[in-house]
Amino acid sequence: MSRVTLSRYLIEQTRSHNTPADLRFLIEVVARACKEISHAVSKGALGGVLGSMDTENVQGEVQKKLDVLSNEILLEANEWGGHLAAMASEEMDKAYQIPGRYPKGAYLLLFDPLDGSSNIDVNVSVGTIFSVLRCPDDCFSQNDALAERAFLQPGYRQVAAGYALYGPQTTLVLTLGEGVKGFTLDRELGSFVLTHEHMQVPPSTSEFAVNMSNQRHWEPPVTRYVSELLAGADGPLGKNYNMRWIASMVADVHRILTRGGLFMYPRDAREPDKAGKLRLMYEANPMAFIVEQAGGAATTGTQRILDVQPEALHQRVPVFLGSKEEVERVTGYHNQA
Ligand code: AHG
Ligand code: MN
Ligand code: MN
Ligand code: MN
Repeated sequence: MSRVTLSRYLIEQTRSHNTPADLRFLIEVVARACKEISHAVSKGALGGVLGSMDTENVQGEVQKKLDVLSNEILLEANEWGGHLAAMASEEMDKAYQIPGRYPKGAYLLLFDPLDGSSNIDVNVSVGTIFSVLRCPDDCFSQNDALAERAFLQPGYRQVAAGYALYGPQTTLVLTLGEGVKGFTLDRELGSFVLTHEHMQVPPSTSEFAVNMSNQRHWEPPVTRYVSELLAGADGPLGKNYNMRWIASMVADVHRILTRGGLFMYPRDAREPDKAGKLRLMYEANPMAFIVEQAGGAATTGTQRILDVQPEALHQRVPVFLGSKEEVERVTGYHNQA
């Protein structure tokens, strides 16, 4: 049986779609880092990697040991290769400049090193999310403010995005803007093997994902929409809906890419800017790019996520993504309000 590994897929992309060699190298390096994270995650208590640190990240979250370890793995893997100008992460206050001893490259890499970290200690799926942008001319500066500004590009400018899901299998889902491919880690071979040739989000669904415990903090369009979902076949939507909430965005999105669904993390009155919990640059943008490339949709309730002009590296946005019909319905409710 001839197997298409990630390396072969990327080389064929270079031939057929002119994917630049340094972008191909970048994806390979990220994938290698994800293998290392997958290994650490799978060791769990045996590797001494469970539990928390006594530090908080810039988001105000207590860092898990694996948040920090995964961040270090991604930084170390990516700093020496000459393919990047800078990196940014959920776990770092500022952009990470490539150290002067290494050459700088044409791309910017952003990541959520470990997504769903509240699930680590209970042995539920977690993942890594990444996004790649081109580096504008002034991002070669060693000045932190300029380096940060280089990242503030709308999501439609992403040249690649993907995630690794550390679940019963480790899978890597990738888009280079030409559809979405899924790879499964073959642990004997040590390679990601193409297993999902053409990932698609079905346009309609009867399944939604939201943290219902936040209901009292939502805005009226979301409260209205979710009450209609809960009303089932007797309500205005005329069908029964099922609900799932894993609390790892990677795992929830992977389910949607596999069998459809709607994922929501709405605006929430508790936060100062009411933007909800999810981060535009590390979570919303890469997932929106993947979901759109798979035929789905992704909005903030009022705007296409990929069109949002970022104002800050750690900015948060409301997220509605998945099957087109439901994303359009809930977005329509916001726009009527
Ligand atoms: P992270 O672990 O990277 O901070 O992200 C957690 C996010 C996301 O993965 C998930 O969808 C959401 O937080 C879960 O939020 P609740 O704890 O409010 O359910
Ligand atoms: Mn976090
Ligand atoms: Mn996350
Ligand atoms: Mn995280």
